[in-house]
Amino acid sequence: MKSFVSDPSEHNSFFENDNPHGVVKRHIFRRHCEAFVAKTQNCKLQTIIYDAFAGAGYYVGLPNVKNSYGSPLICLDVVIKYFQQKSTSTLVYSPFTQEVQDIKPIVKDIQMPESEDRVVLNFSEANRDNCLKLVNNIVLFLRTSIGDAFFISLNNDGVMTISSYNEEYPFCINIANAEFIQVRPPDDKPYRRLLTFIDPFGYSQIPMKHVQRFIGERREAFINFMSSYVNRFKNVKSNETAIIELYGFSDEERNECLQNLQVMSDHDEDGINRCVQMYETKLKKQAESTYILGFTVRNKKNVRLYHLIFITNHIKGFKAMKEAMKSGSQDADSLSVSDYHVEKNGMQLSLVNKQDIRVVAAKIYERFQGQNNVNIKVIENFIWFKTPYVWRKKPLKILQKEPEDHPRLTNVKDKDGKKPSKKYTYPGVTEWLLTFRPKSDAELSKNLHKLKLE
Ligand SMILES: C[S@@+](CC[C@H](N)C(=O)[O-])C[C@H]1O[C@@H](n2cnc3c(N)ncnc32)[C@H](O)[C@@H]1O
Repeated sequence: MKSFVSDPSEHNSFFENDNPHGVVKRHIFRRHCEAFVAKTQNCKLQTIIYDAFAGAGYYVGLPNVKNSYGSPLICLDVVIKYFQQKSTSTLVYSPFTQEVQDIKPIVKDIQMPESEDRVVLNFSEANRDNCLKLVNNIVLFLRTSIGDAFFISLNNDGVMTISSYNEEYPFCINIANAEFIQVRPPDDKPYRRLLTFIDPFGYSQIPMKHVQRFIGERREAFINFMSSYVNRFKNVKSNETAIIELYGFSDEERNECLQNLQVMSDHDEDGINRCVQMYETKLKKQAESTYILGFTVRNKKNVRLYHLIFITNHIKGFKAMKEAMKSGSQDADSLSVSDYHVEKNGMQLSLVNKQDIRVVAAKIYERFQGQNNVNIKVIENFIWFKTPYVWRKKPLKILQKEPEDHPRLTNVKDKDGKKPSKKYTYPGVTEWLLTFRPKSDAELSKNLHKLKLE
């Protein structure tokens, strides 16, 4: 059983080794936090970010300071920059200087403290050394960014709170030396929005009934789902109960759950797919959430290691995360990263969106060829929800221009038959109606030939 459950005492050295997929994961988290903080703050909501497996806050030995921040410092950096309203940082920063001498482990179940600050950052970390490093990294980070305008206090539950008292930085940070399973989120309020990051190392069995507290209306979560571990351990008899709890099935559903996981699991790839799909379906059901996104992470041998899963009820949250995942993706045509390509094939780690507008144009044409008056919103939704790409209007321009003698997009008009004032543009929120010509015989036979070759 021990090998199945993550042991926080083993995770000290974690912050001394990093890999490309770790950098990508934190890049995606940063990009999403930036959007989440800006959107919630601009709407005068209270922003709460909870980093459940926070870590020490800093990775040593990485050449680039930005890449060296662990997820809690990323949240803090994003929040401070939001309040500064500019992204130029003059930080002089070196990690791990001991200022706070000790932190007491929390021994009971707790709720993260209530606060009326505009932004609240909640961190839990089970490993005492990492937690102490985290506290000190935060203190140092604050000194070099907002000066000494903060105080540290300890509440009755043992949660350490670091509060800024500079009015320009209305935030506080709660840190608990606790297991994720011990911690409840603050109460739901109409003006609150919660983003939770669940990023265990190795396989950590987090029951669905606990995860459920952090997702749903006004609550979104970014989850590191250890799909390869789940796939590997699901066949071990002694792990059955843990698996049932991970997925949140009831006792009556036990057999159904185990059977579903076994089907197709002869091939490892299929088994992993099934583990992820079932988890996503369950998450959506339990949270009554509408939107879900997955990002595949492969290791140095190009074998799938884990999936990053994002769940939200808000279309804007979905779009912001897809933009973040797309910019972290090292493959233009999927949402994924592989350490193999970066470390073994010498691929440069790139953190920008590399989707090819001609490939996206071809996808749109493939789907809508021969259709008249397709609402641009339908095409936009197709791209957001049915492809690995993010929505841009540029591929439409390609379709309207190419091939020069026989363009694929033949007509654009609004509901009254009026065309856009400038050709090859589809301005504003107008629901333009687009007509795509059918494929020519030559295109059809080219496709057939390609299919045969495949
Ligand atoms: C993958 S690391 C987190 C990395 C961090 N999210 C980042 O991006 O910088 C996982 C951390 O969770 C801690 N941990 C392990 N089990 C835990 C638990 N049950 N509850 C809270 N933290 C735990 C480990 O000590 C380790 O520091």
